[in-house]
Amino acid sequence: MSIDVSDHASDIDLFTDESLDDPFPSHRVLRDRGPATYLSGHDLWYLGRYAEVRAALSDWETFSSAKGTGLNDVINEAWSSTVIMVDPPVHTKLRKLFTDRLGRRQLKPISETIDQRAKQLAEKLVQQGEFDGVRDMAHDLPANVIMDLVGWPESERSNLMEYASGSFDCVGPENQRMTDGMPKLAESIEYVTDIYDSGRLTPGSFGYTIAEAAAIGEITKDDAIGLLLSYAVAAFDTTINAMSSGMWLFAQNPEQWQIFRRDPALAAAAFNETVRLECPLQFFSRMTTRDVDMGDGVMIPAGARVLISFGGANRDGRHYEDPDEFRIERNPVDHLAFGSGVHACVGQNLARMEGIAVFRAMASRAKTVELNGPVVRALNNMTRGLESLPLRVS
Ligand code: HEM
Repeated sequence: MSIDVSDHASDIDLFTDESLDDPFPSHRVLRDRGPATYLSGHDLWYLGRYAEVRAALSDWETFSSAKGTGLNDVINEAWSSTVIMVDPPVHTKLRKLFTDRLGRRQLKPISETIDQRAKQLAEKLVQQGEFDGVRDMAHDLPANVIMDLVGWPESERSNLMEYASGSFDCVGPENQRMTDGMPKLAESIEYVTDIYDSGRLTPGSFGYTIAEAAAIGEITKDDAIGLLLSYAVAAFDTTINAMSSGMWLFAQNPEQWQIFRRDPALAAAAFNETVRLECPLQFFSRMTTRDVDMGDGVMIPAGARVLISFGGANRDGRHYEDPDEFRIERNPVDHLAFGSGVHACVGQNLARMEGIAVFRAMASRAKTVELNGPVVRALNNMTRGLESLPLRVS
Protein backbone atom coordinates (compact mmCIF):
# COMPACT_ATOMS: atom_id res chain seq x y z
CA MET A 1 0.00 0.00 0.00
CA SER A 2 1.36 3.47 -0.81
CA ILE A 3 1.07 5.85 2.15
CA ASP A 4 0.89 9.63 1.77
CA VAL A 5 3.03 11.12 4.55
CA SER A 6 2.44 14.79 3.70
CA ASP A 7 -0.41 15.26 6.23
CA HIS A 8 1.83 14.04 9.04
CA ALA A 9 5.12 15.67 8.06
CA SER A 10 7.22 18.28 9.84
CA ASP A 11 10.40 20.05 8.80
CA ILE A 12 11.65 20.33 12.42
CA ASP A 13 15.32 19.30 12.59
CA LEU A 14 16.12 17.76 15.98
CA PHE A 15 19.84 17.62 15.17
CA THR A 16 20.81 21.30 14.81
CA ASP A 17 23.07 22.77 17.51
CA GLU A 18 20.14 24.82 18.90
CA SER A 19 17.92 21.77 19.12
CA LEU A 20 20.60 19.56 20.68
CA ASP A 21 21.20 22.29 23.25
CA ASP A 22 17.51 22.54 24.17
CA PRO A 23 15.51 19.81 22.40
CA PHE A 24 12.46 19.80 24.64
CA PRO A 25 10.33 22.56 23.03
CA SER A 26 10.60 20.75 19.65
CA HIS A 27 9.71 17.44 21.26
CA ARG A 28 6.59 19.02 22.75
CA VAL A 29 5.51 20.36 19.34
CA LEU A 30 6.08 16.97 17.73
CA ARG A 31 4.25 15.05 20.46
CA ASP A 32 1.28 17.40 20.19
CA ARG A 33 1.16 16.99 16.41
CA GLY A 34 0.16 13.33 16.59
CA PRO A 35 1.10 9.82 17.65
CA ALA A 36 3.86 9.76 14.98
CA THR A 37 5.28 12.50 12.74
CA TYR A 38 7.36 12.21 9.57
CA LEU A 39 10.54 14.30 9.84
CA SER A 40 11.01 15.27 6.22
CA GLY A 41 14.58 16.62 6.62
CA HIS A 42 15.94 13.24 7.67
CA ASP A 43 13.41 10.79 6.20
CA LEU A 44 12.51 9.54 9.69
CA TRP A 45 9.31 8.91 11.62
CA TYR A 46 9.37 10.43 15.11
CA LEU A 47 7.81 8.68 18.13
CA GLY A 48 7.92 10.76 21.30
CA ARG A 49 4.72 10.05 23.21
CA TYR A 50 5.25 7.80 26.22
CA ALA A 51 2.57 5.22 25.33
CA GLU A 52 3.64 4.91 21.68
CA VAL A 53 7.36 4.65 22.55
CA ARG A 54 6.75 1.97 25.16
CA ALA A 55 4.47 0.02 22.78
CA ALA A 56 7.05 0.17 19.95
CA LEU A 57 9.83 -1.02 22.25
CA SER A 58 7.70 -4.00 23.32
CA ASP A 59 7.07 -5.08 19.71
CA TRP A 60 10.45 -5.99 18.22
CA GLU A 61 8.81 -8.01 15.45
CA THR A 62 7.23 -4.84 14.03
CA PHE A 63 9.85 -2.30 15.17
CA SER A 64 12.95 -4.30 14.28
CA SER A 65 16.60 -3.64 15.18
CA ALA A 66 17.96 -6.09 12.59
CA LYS A 67 18.45 -3.41 9.90
CA GLY A 68 20.33 -1.27 12.41
CA THR A 69 19.28 1.14 15.13
CA GLY A 70 21.44 4.03 13.96
CA LEU A 71 20.24 6.74 11.59
CA ASN A 72 22.63 6.08 8.71
CA ASP A 73 23.92 3.10 6.72
CA VAL A 74 27.58 3.51 7.75
CA ILE A 75 26.97 2.96 11.47
CA ASN A 76 24.39 0.25 10.82
CA GLU A 77 27.04 -1.65 8.86
CA ALA A 78 29.91 -0.91 11.29
CA TRP A 79 27.90 -2.01 14.35
CA SER A 80 25.95 -4.83 12.66
CA SER A 81 27.51 -7.39 15.04
CA THR A 82 26.62 -5.50 18.20
CA VAL A 83 23.86 -6.72 20.49
CA ILE A 84 21.86 -3.56 19.88
CA MET A 85 21.53 -4.19 16.12
CA VAL A 86 20.12 -7.71 16.04
CA ASP A 87 16.72 -9.27 16.75
CA PRO A 88 15.96 -12.51 18.59
CA PRO A 89 17.03 -15.30 18.38
CA VAL A 90 20.56 -14.01 17.56
CA HIS A 91 20.04 -11.22 20.08
CA THR A 92 19.06 -13.60 22.88
CA LYS A 93 22.37 -15.47 22.63
CA LEU A 94 24.56 -12.34 22.52
CA ARG A 95 22.66 -10.59 25.31
CA LYS A 96 23.19 -13.53 27.65
CA LEU A 97 26.93 -12.77 27.64
CA PHE A 98 26.07 -9.46 29.34
CA THR A 99 23.25 -10.56 31.61
CA ASP A 100 25.40 -13.37 33.04
CA ARG A 101 27.68 -10.67 34.51
CA LEU A 102 25.40 -7.64 34.99
CA GLY A 103 22.44 -9.01 36.95
CA ARG A 104 21.72 -7.56 40.41
CA ARG A 105 22.90 -10.71 42.16
CA GLN A 106 26.13 -10.89 40.14
CA LEU A 107 26.89 -7.23 40.87
CA LYS A 108 26.29 -7.49 44.61
CA PRO A 109 29.95 -8.16 45.53
CA ILE A 110 31.00 -5.06 43.58
CA SER A 111 28.65 -2.67 45.34
CA GLU A 112 30.96 -2.27 48.31
CA THR A 113 33.93 -1.29 46.09
CA ILE A 114 31.72 1.25 44.30
CA ASP A 115 30.41 2.72 47.59
CA GLN A 116 33.92 2.91 49.01
CA ARG A 117 35.32 4.70 45.97
CA ALA A 118 32.32 7.09 45.89
CA LYS A 119 32.86 7.99 49.57
CA GLN A 120 36.57 8.71 49.05
CA LEU A 121 35.75 10.81 46.01
CA ALA A 122 33.05 12.83 47.83
CA GLU A 123 35.38 13.35 50.79
CA LYS A 124 38.05 14.79 48.51
CA LEU A 125 35.67 17.00 46.51
CA VAL A 126 33.94 18.44 49.57
CA GLN A 127 37.32 19.26 51.07
CA GLN A 128 38.31 21.00 47.82
CA GLY A 129 35.03 22.98 47.90
CA GLU A 130 35.20 23.82 44.19
CA PHE A 131 35.48 21.29 41.36
CA ASP A 132 34.25 20.29 37.93
CA GLY A 133 31.22 17.98 38.20
CA VAL A 134 32.09 16.22 34.94
CA ARG A 135 35.88 15.85 34.91
CA ASP A 136 36.55 15.63 38.65
CA MET A 137 33.38 13.86 39.81
CA ALA A 138 31.42 11.95 37.14
CA HIS A 139 34.45 10.48 35.33
CA ASP A 140 35.87 8.78 38.39
CA LEU A 141 33.82 5.59 38.78
CA PRO A 142 33.36 4.77 35.08
CA ALA A 143 37.04 5.37 34.28
CA ASN A 144 38.35 3.40 37.25
CA VAL A 145 36.11 0.84 38.97
CA ILE A 146 33.96 0.09 35.92
CA MET A 147 36.78 -0.26 33.44
CA ASP A 148 38.54 -2.53 35.97
CA LEU A 149 35.45 -4.73 35.89
CA VAL A 150 35.30 -4.69 32.12
CA GLY A 151 39.00 -5.64 32.18
CA TRP A 152 40.29 -2.77 30.04
CA PRO A 153 44.08 -2.26 30.21
CA GLU A 154 44.75 0.79 32.38
CA SER A 155 47.00 2.48 29.83
CA GLU A 156 44.17 2.38 27.26
CA ARG A 157 41.49 4.34 29.08
CA SER A 158 42.31 7.96 28.35
CA ASN A 159 40.65 8.00 24.90
CA LEU A 160 37.44 6.24 25.92
CA MET A 161 35.40 9.42 26.31
CA GLU A 162 36.35 10.68 22.85
CA TYR A 163 35.65 7.32 21.25
CA ALA A 164 32.28 7.05 22.96
CA SER A 165 31.08 10.54 22.06
CA GLY A 166 32.52 10.33 18.50
CA SER A 167 30.78 6.98 18.00
CA PHE A 168 27.44 8.29 19.31
CA ASP A 169 27.69 11.24 16.88
CA CYS A 170 28.09 8.67 14.11
CA VAL A 171 24.83 6.99 15.15
CA GLY A 172 23.01 10.18 14.13
CA PRO A 173 21.73 11.34 10.74
CA GLU A 174 24.16 12.24 7.94
CA ASN A 175 25.07 15.70 9.18
CA GLN A 176 28.38 17.49 9.86
CA ARG A 177 28.51 16.10 13.38
CA MET A 178 28.28 12.56 12.02
CA THR A 179 31.02 13.23 9.43
CA ASP A 180 33.27 14.72 12.12
CA GLY A 181 32.73 11.66 14.33
CA MET A 182 33.75 9.16 11.60
CA PRO A 183 37.51 9.12 12.36
CA LYS A 184 36.71 8.37 16.03
CA LEU A 185 34.36 5.55 15.07
CA ALA A 186 37.06 3.94 12.90
CA GLU A 187 39.67 4.44 15.63
CA SER A 188 37.39 2.96 18.29
CA ILE A 189 36.92 -0.23 16.25
CA GLU A 190 40.69 -0.50 15.64
CA TYR A 191 41.37 0.16 19.30
CA VAL A 192 38.97 -2.53 20.55
CA THR A 193 40.27 -5.00 17.94
CA ASP A 194 43.82 -4.33 19.06
CA ILE A 195 42.97 -4.94 22.74
CA TYR A 196 41.20 -8.17 21.77
CA ASP A 197 43.97 -9.42 19.44
CA SER A 198 46.74 -8.68 21.92
CA GLY A 199 44.93 -10.64 24.66
CA ARG A 200 45.17 -7.76 27.13
CA LEU A 201 41.75 -8.09 28.80
CA THR A 202 42.14 -8.90 32.49
CA PRO A 203 41.40 -12.59 33.18
CA GLY A 204 38.04 -13.03 34.92
CA SER A 205 36.74 -9.61 33.79
CA PHE A 206 33.46 -8.95 31.92
CA GLY A 207 35.40 -8.44 28.69
CA TYR A 208 37.36 -11.65 29.23
CA THR A 209 34.07 -13.62 29.37
CA ILE A 210 33.34 -12.36 25.87
CA ALA A 211 36.82 -13.26 24.59
CA GLU A 212 36.48 -16.74 26.12
CA ALA A 213 33.12 -17.27 24.37
CA ALA A 214 34.83 -16.47 21.06
CA ALA A 215 37.80 -18.73 21.89
CA ILE A 216 35.50 -21.76 22.30
CA GLY A 217 33.54 -20.88 19.14
CA GLU A 218 30.32 -19.92 20.97
CA ILE A 219 30.39 -16.59 19.11
CA THR A 220 32.50 -15.27 16.22
CA LYS A 221 35.43 -12.87 16.56
CA ASP A 222 33.27 -10.13 14.93
CA ASP A 223 30.58 -10.74 17.56
CA ALA A 224 33.21 -10.49 20.30
CA ILE A 225 34.59 -7.19 18.96
CA GLY A 226 31.01 -5.89 18.66
CA LEU A 227 30.22 -6.84 22.26
CA LEU A 228 33.44 -5.31 23.58
CA LEU A 229 32.60 -2.14 21.67
CA SER A 230 29.22 -2.11 23.42
CA TYR A 231 31.04 -1.99 26.76
CA ALA A 232 33.54 0.65 25.64
CA VAL A 233 30.88 2.95 24.20
CA ALA A 234 27.71 2.24 26.20
CA ALA A 235 29.15 1.97 29.70
CA PHE A 236 31.02 5.21 29.64
CA ASP A 237 29.63 8.59 28.73
CA THR A 238 25.99 7.59 29.35
CA THR A 239 26.82 7.04 33.03
CA ILE A 240 29.02 10.13 33.21
CA ASN A 241 26.16 12.18 31.74
CA ALA A 242 23.69 10.78 34.26
CA MET A 243 25.84 11.65 37.28
CA SER A 244 26.80 15.14 36.13
CA SER A 245 23.25 15.96 34.99
CA GLY A 246 21.99 14.98 38.44
CA MET A 247 24.35 17.39 40.19
CA TRP A 248 23.44 20.10 37.65
CA LEU A 249 19.73 19.59 38.43
CA PHE A 250 20.39 19.68 42.18
CA ALA A 251 22.45 22.88 41.84
CA GLN A 252 19.46 24.52 40.14
CA ASN A 253 16.91 23.10 42.58
CA PRO A 254 18.45 23.60 46.03
CA GLU A 255 15.21 22.64 47.81
CA GLN A 256 15.47 19.18 46.19
CA TRP A 257 19.01 18.82 47.58
CA GLN A 258 17.66 19.56 51.05
CA ILE A 259 14.82 17.02 50.62
CA PHE A 260 17.43 14.46 49.59
CA ARG A 261 19.75 15.32 52.48
CA ARG A 262 16.93 14.85 54.95
CA ASP A 263 16.08 11.45 53.46
CA PRO A 264 19.09 9.71 51.84
CA ALA A 265 16.83 6.72 51.04
CA LEU A 266 15.64 8.90 48.13
CA ALA A 267 18.93 8.28 46.27
CA ALA A 268 17.40 5.76 43.85
CA ALA A 269 14.42 8.06 43.28
CA ALA A 270 16.80 10.99 42.60
CA PHE A 271 18.65 8.90 40.05
CA ASN A 272 15.39 7.89 38.32
CA GLU A 273 14.19 11.48 38.21
CA THR A 274 17.55 12.65 36.81
CA VAL A 275 17.62 10.18 33.93
CA ARG A 276 13.92 10.76 33.23
CA LEU A 277 14.48 14.49 32.77
CA GLU A 278 17.99 14.60 31.33
CA CYS A 279 17.83 11.28 29.51
CA PRO A 280 21.53 10.55 28.73
CA LEU A 281 20.74 8.57 25.60
CA GLN A 282 18.10 10.56 23.73
CA PHE A 283 17.41 8.29 20.76
CA PHE A 284 17.90 5.07 18.93
CA SER A 285 15.89 3.91 15.95
CA ARG A 286 14.06 0.89 14.55
CA MET A 287 12.82 -0.17 11.10
CA THR A 288 9.21 -1.18 10.55
CA THR A 289 8.64 -4.65 9.11
CA ARG A 290 5.02 -3.88 8.08
CA ASP A 291 2.64 -0.93 7.71
CA VAL A 292 1.73 0.24 11.22
CA ASP A 293 -1.52 1.98 12.10
CA MET A 294 -0.60 4.45 14.87
CA GLY A 295 -4.19 5.71 15.34
CA ASP A 296 -5.59 9.22 14.61
CA GLY A 297 -5.23 8.44 10.90
CA VAL A 298 -1.42 8.12 11.03
CA MET A 299 0.05 5.17 9.16
CA ILE A 300 3.81 4.39 9.19
CA PRO A 301 4.73 2.42 6.06
CA ALA A 302 6.71 -0.85 6.10
CA GLY A 303 10.48 -0.34 5.74
CA ALA A 304 10.41 3.12 7.41
CA ARG A 305 13.11 4.23 9.84
CA VAL A 306 11.52 5.25 13.14
CA LEU A 307 13.24 7.51 15.64
CA ILE A 308 12.48 6.31 19.16
CA SER A 309 12.75 9.33 21.43
CA PHE A 310 13.46 8.11 24.98
CA GLY A 311 14.00 11.73 26.05
CA GLY A 312 10.75 12.93 24.46
CA ALA A 313 8.69 10.12 26.02
CA ASN A 314 10.14 10.86 29.45
CA ARG A 315 8.78 14.42 29.27
CA ASP A 316 5.34 13.54 27.93
CA GLY A 317 2.70 15.42 29.92
CA ARG A 318 0.20 12.70 28.98
CA HIS A 319 2.13 10.43 31.33
CA TYR A 320 3.93 12.63 33.89
CA GLU A 321 2.42 15.57 35.71
CA ASP A 322 4.51 18.79 35.30
CA PRO A 323 6.94 16.76 33.18
CA ASP A 324 9.66 19.44 32.97
CA GLU A 325 10.03 19.79 36.75
CA PHE A 326 12.72 18.05 38.80
CA ARG A 327 10.99 16.46 41.79
CA ILE A 328 12.86 13.57 43.27
CA GLU A 329 9.96 12.37 45.41
CA ARG A 330 7.94 11.43 42.34
CA ASN A 331 10.35 8.47 41.81
CA PRO A 332 9.41 7.72 38.18
CA VAL A 333 10.33 4.02 38.18
CA ASP A 334 8.63 3.54 34.79
CA HIS A 335 10.82 6.08 32.90
CA LEU A 336 12.21 5.03 29.53
CA ALA A 337 15.78 6.32 29.88
CA PHE A 338 17.01 2.72 29.84
CA GLY A 339 14.63 1.75 27.05
CA SER A 340 12.22 -1.16 27.49
CA GLY A 341 11.52 -4.58 25.97
CA VAL A 342 14.13 -7.03 24.69
CA HIS A 343 16.82 -4.34 24.19
CA ALA A 344 16.31 -2.60 27.56
CA CYS A 345 19.69 -1.43 28.86
CA VAL A 346 21.63 -4.43 30.07
CA GLY A 347 23.96 -2.22 32.14
CA GLN A 348 21.23 -0.37 34.04
CA ASN A 349 21.90 -2.09 37.39
CA LEU A 350 25.53 -1.06 37.21
CA ALA A 351 24.70 2.50 36.08
CA ARG A 352 22.17 2.86 38.94
CA MET A 353 24.67 1.51 41.44
CA GLU A 354 27.26 4.11 40.40
CA GLY A 355 24.82 7.02 40.31
CA ILE A 356 23.21 6.18 43.64
CA ALA A 357 26.60 5.72 45.35
CA VAL A 358 27.87 9.10 44.15
CA PHE A 359 24.65 11.02 44.91
CA ARG A 360 24.45 9.50 48.40
CA ALA A 361 28.12 10.10 49.19
CA MET A 362 27.88 13.73 48.08
CA ALA A 363 24.60 14.40 49.93
CA SER A 364 25.91 13.08 53.23
CA ARG A 365 28.88 15.49 53.07
CA ALA A 366 27.77 18.63 51.18
CA LYS A 367 25.19 20.88 52.83
CA THR A 368 24.75 22.92 49.68
CA VAL A 369 25.57 22.58 45.97
CA GLU A 370 25.79 25.62 43.73
CA LEU A 371 26.90 26.46 40.22
CA ASN A 372 30.28 28.14 40.25
CA GLY A 373 30.64 29.38 36.67
CA PRO A 374 29.28 28.86 33.16
CA VAL A 375 28.05 25.36 32.38
CA VAL A 376 29.16 23.99 28.98
CA ARG A 377 26.92 21.49 27.25
CA ALA A 378 28.45 18.63 25.22
CA LEU A 379 26.43 18.64 21.99
CA ASN A 380 26.01 15.19 20.48
CA ASN A 381 23.64 13.62 17.91
CA MET A 382 22.40 10.94 20.33
CA THR A 383 23.50 11.68 23.88
CA ARG A 384 22.70 14.51 26.27
CA GLY A 385 25.27 15.65 28.76
CA LEU A 386 27.70 18.29 29.89
CA GLU A 387 31.26 19.11 28.92
CA SER A 388 31.93 21.14 32.02
CA LEU A 389 30.01 21.76 35.27
CA PRO A 390 31.76 24.13 37.68
CA LEU A 391 30.36 23.43 41.16
CA ARG A 392 30.85 24.82 44.66
CA VAL A 393 29.82 22.78 47.69
CA SER A 394 29.85 23.60 51.37
C1 HEM B 1 22.88 6.03 32.78
C2 HEM B 1 23.54 5.19 32.00
C3 HEM B 1 22.93 4.48 30.82
C4 HEM B 1 21.85 4.83 30.03
C5 HEM B 1 20.96 6.05 30.16
C6 HEM B 1 21.68 3.76 29.05
C7 HEM B 1 20.67 3.74 28.11
C8 HEM B 1 20.40 2.67 27.27
C9 HEM B 1 19.26 2.54 26.42
C10 HEM B 1 18.16 3.58 26.25
C11 HEM B 1 19.33 1.35 25.78
C12 HEM B 1 18.30 0.75 24.82
C13 HEM B 1 18.61 1.05 23.38
C14 HEM B 1 17.55 0.52 22.43
O1 HEM B 1 16.48 0.09 22.84
O2 HEM B 1 17.80 0.60 21.21
C15 HEM B 1 20.56 0.71 26.22
C16 HEM B 1 21.00 -0.51 25.79
C17 HEM B 1 22.25 -1.04 26.17
N1 HEM B 1 23.08 -0.58 27.16
FE1 HEM B 1 22.82 1.04 28.28
N2 HEM B 1 22.66 2.83 29.24
C18 HEM B 1 23.44 3.20 30.33
C19 HEM B 1 24.50 2.51 30.88
C20 HEM B 1 25.02 1.33 30.41
C21 HEM B 1 26.11 0.60 30.98
C22 HEM B 1 26.86 1.01 32.26
C23 HEM B 1 26.33 -0.49 30.18
C24 HEM B 1 27.34 -1.60 30.32
C25 HEM B 1 27.90 -1.97 31.43
C26 HEM B 1 25.34 -0.44 29.11
C27 HEM B 1 25.24 -1.37 28.10
C28 HEM B 1 24.18 -1.42 27.21
C29 HEM B 1 24.06 -2.46 26.20
C30 HEM B 1 25.06 -3.56 25.91
C31 HEM B 1 22.83 -2.21 25.54
C32 HEM B 1 22.20 -3.04 24.42
C33 HEM B 1 21.24 -4.05 25.03
C34 HEM B 1 20.50 -4.85 24.00
O3 HEM B 1 20.49 -4.49 22.84
O4 HEM B 1 19.93 -5.90 24.38
N3 HEM B 1 24.56 0.67 29.29
N4 HEM B 1 21.18 1.53 27.15
